Amino acid sequence: MSQRSRTGTATLAAALLALAVLAGGCTEAGGVRGTPGAAGLRDPFFPKLGNGGYDVSHYGLTLAYDPASGRLDGTTEITARAGQDLSAFNLDLAGLTVRGATVDGAPAAYNRAGNELTLRPHEEIPEGAEFRATVTYTGVPEPLTDADGSKEGWLRTAGGAVAVGEPAGSMTWFPGNHHPSDKASYDVTLTLPAGTDGFSNGIRTARRTEPDGRVTTEWHSAEPMASYLATVAIGRYETGTATALGSVPVLTAAEPPVAAGSAALRGEIPGILARQVERFGPYPFSAAGAIVTRDGTLGYALETQTRPVFPSASFDRTTLVHELAHQWFGNSVTPADWRDIWLNEGFATYAEWLYAEEYEHVPARTHFARAFAQDANWAFPPAAPPSAENLFDPPVYQRGAMVLHKLRETVGDRVFDEILRGWAAKYRHANATTGDFTAYAESVAGRDLDALWDVWLYGDGKPDRP
Ligand code: TRP
Ligand code: ZN
Repeated sequence: MSQRSRTGTATLAAALLALAVLAGGCTEAGGVRGTPGAAGLRDPFFPKLGNGGYDVSHYGLTLAYDPASGRLDGTTEITARAGQDLSAFNLDLAGLTVRGATVDGAPAAYNRAGNELTLRPHEEIPEGAEFRATVTYTGVPEPLTDADGSKEGWLRTAGGAVAVGEPAGSMTWFPGNHHPSDKASYDVTLTLPAGTDGFSNGIRTARRTEPDGRVTTEWHSAEPMASYLATVAIGRYETGTATALGSVPVLTAAEPPVAAGSAALRGEIPGILARQVERFGPYPFSAAGAIVTRDGTLGYALETQTRPVFPSASFDRTTLVHELAHQWFGNSVTPADWRDIWLNEGFATYAEWLYAEEYEHVPARTHFARAFAQDANWAFPPAAPPSAENLFDPPVYQRGAMVLHKLRETVGDRVFDEILRGWAAKYRHANATTGDFTAYAESVAGRDLDALWDVWLYGDGKPDRP
């Protein structure tokens, strides 16, 4: 072969390879011909959130944070199973600088575009294979501003930070499959300067002083968790401990200026959980607690798994009941996509109404009537928020709770209780849709409830009669 034609052949081969890459494929000696996983899960409100082609079973987050500079150094190790022959796959990550990535121990190529981090493993991952990916990163995390103007993600506080991730903020502090449909167990290792305390979800399994004087704590969440429910709280905190339900360790933490004022209510957690267990069934997690921060950073409470976070202005009994109810409704039974958010907020709001009925002599019917009278609740049906901007609007909470109250009035208290408990049991640690709920309620009630759903769950505008 002449020099000239050899060059021609090489050029042709390169062109063919480029074509194959463009077509999304990659030929391997083993014959596997993988394609890249999808860059999003087509959530109706956040089409690029989450990623296709794999399912995460575990996150190992190793985080070192310096409150003075705001710098985070992290390594995320993901254990996942490939759902297809994978030539590449994405993780969601906002901001920060990636320093390196591996897949199954071998360096992986990576690329960033917007909030998508693409990893291209050295060897393709065959469908069904379990793999481990690590991403090492650094930088000063920046919060996200949501469509409704609220801030989420990594929020800096005086002397620390608090991370909240609903609906998308967790991508500001670790790369992951940040859609609620991919739940996983977690281990979080937090290394902080001496004198700075750190908290996360689940059980604290270790605490040690590093040779350089920094302090490391380790946190284990055995039960599946959607990434929006992951949290860390960093700063100076006073803690309280108790036991709930005979065996569930309760760890609360409050910043010193709000510690004394929040202590009594923090002490009510075991009692509230005991009553909720009677109503909703077994507590889904092996830890409980709360984190109470000074005001000024976080504008709302969040049901972060096992250990909800409250700005002190929101740390009242009603909100505590609400966030604890989310442990069943939202955290254990998690919406399959963000359009189904009323499955979280309607249920947690109804838990408030149930609590008030029992302890404050306000019948749920009174809450229902008040909600019925308010114009803001009729902007859209709870099962169909018009856009991401409306995810946390009054109809999701109040009309969502009204649906449950109408259901209760229709089927009676006994069947309604069975539906609440059975729903939490049937979809425990799983994902569910609005359709799953209506079908389940009908199966327990033993009758068609379309008339109820049509008006209260899906109907536009206010019905003539409450
Ligand atoms: N899910 C939270 C709760 O009801 C509230 C929440 C999360 C929220 N993110 C938000 C409210 C953004 C307003 C804006 O417990
Ligand atoms: Zn809520």
